[in-house]
Amino acid sequence: MTTTPASRPPVPPDLRHLFHPEHADHYVAAMRSGVHHLADALGRVSDPATGLSPEHAAKPVVDVDLDEPLGDPAQALAEMSRVWLDDTVWFHEPAYAAHLNCPVVIPALLAEVFVSGVNASLDTFDQSVGGTFVERHLVDWTAGRIGFGPDADGIFTSGGTQSNLQALLLARDHAVAAGAPVEQLRVVTSSDGHFSVQKAARLLGLGDDAVVTVPVDADRCLDLDALAATLEALPGYGLVPMAVVATAGTTDFGAIDPLGGVADLCERHGAWLHVDAAYGGGLLVSPTRRHRLAGIERADSVTVDFHKTWFQPVSSSALLVADGSTLRHVTWHADYLNPEPADPDGEDPAAAPNQVDKSLQTTRRFDALKLWLTLRIMGPDLIGSYVDRVVDLAAEVGSRVAGHDELELAAPPQLSTVVFRFRPHDAGAHGPAYDDDALDALQGRIRTDLYERGTGMVAATRVEGRAFLKLTLLNPMATVEDLSRLLDAVVAGGRALAAGMTEVER
Ligand SMILES: Cc1ncc(COP(=O)(O)O)c(C=O)c1O
Repeated sequence: MTTTPASRPPVPPDLRHLFHPEHADHYVAAMRSGVHHLADALGRVSDPATGLSPEHAAKPVVDVDLDEPLGDPAQALAEMSRVWLDDTVWFHEPAYAAHLNCPVVIPALLAEVFVSGVNASLDTFDQSVGGTFVERHLVDWTAGRIGFGPDADGIFTSGGTQSNLQALLLARDHAVAAGAPVEQLRVVTSSDGHFSVQKAARLLGLGDDAVVTVPVDADRCLDLDALAATLEALPGYGLVPMAVVATAGTTDFGAIDPLGGVADLCERHGAWLHVDAAYGGGLLVSPTRRHRLAGIERADSVTVDFHKTWFQPVSSSALLVADGSTLRHVTWHADYLNPEPADPDGEDPAAAPNQVDKSLQTTRRFDALKLWLTLRIMGPDLIGSYVDRVVDLAAEVGSRVAGHDELELAAPPQLSTVVFRFRPHDAGAHGPAYDDDALDALQGRIRTDLYERGTGMVAATRVEGRAFLKLTLLNPMATVEDLSRLLDAVVAGGRALAAGMTEVER
């Protein structure tokens, strides 16, 4: 017998916070108040940050007594603003140019309402129904953009770190299945590869020595000759190059490794090719720069982070594999969740299409819906044009840096980062007035000073052991003028801080 809403007993008041048809008014009111609260906050923002120190950020948070609820959403939102929102970092602000955080597109925020409200879990078909196929369709579509064949497959993950981990897990188990002893396995990547490769090797029990890094060339791309020499040499030490991780968009320089050349070497040495396109994956939809990923279609696996260059809210990433059968390495059957099909090798019509069979996670957010609504409302070309904009912006900002006599450009921008440092005038003209250590210290102080004043956020990194600053440009609404103002602030701050350095500090 079905129970109609009219025949249900009234819901006790203490259950009013649950998402439920009888609480639809409460839900709408709460959501509306939240959206207005955020829009109001957005309207007051004029800088990327207020420059709060960790001590000042911690104090109001730890003072909250979590055993004493406020009950009322308005009061809780007001408190939330005090403890976090009023001083948060805003990625849509043009002077935010620090890490790989993007402003997010509104269609994806619309999807978030449904992702959280319905709370579908993408592990099994019986928890997501059509959601399973939304995710699968997006996986197939992305694999098509990569240029993979009909056997391709993949899975949404929580981020590039998890995608890279799963890729290397598949590569490890592929090598072990072919008879290679685990302790002999090596992963080769460039010295500019992402640190999640090292983390993955540790988590996979391969050990910290398992990642062999090869140098980058003058363009900060993996040096093919060095890779060839390494792959030749490893077997001589009794080691097996199980995988090469090529990066399509390194975190600092946006460099795209020579994917075709790396694929040739992987083929010759029987190594799995993983392309970490966490950052450069947005080029898959670029109307003008897709060719820069040429060779990606020869990979065994590819990481794409939609929460970087596809302007999606965290989290949204995918691992795509050329041969879907390799995903079996993460398959495990449990009677209570995804029982083994009657005919595991064939087509079992009763077998449910369970995405958990392809994933490291069990319960998993329906992040795919964000990309789905983004594509259905905006379309891929528009997203790709946003990518083009930030790449053009970085090129222009890079030339401004190169033309500035107190700024030193580390390398020409390749994607949307600009790595540079401030070098005060008299450091060159009147001899080494500031030694290398002083210059290093200066970069750190410039960065902190900018943050504390709230006027801009830049990142810090090291190039050949020396401190540099980095702009990561992922805001298609930022203009060259916005970024020129940020550079002016770097120079003005740098001059003031340099002038304040004591003889000893220099
Ligand atoms: C090249 C590259 N790979 C992987 C990652 C890790 O991605 P996530 O932060 O989503 O885990 C990053 C993050 O910046 C990255 O730049």
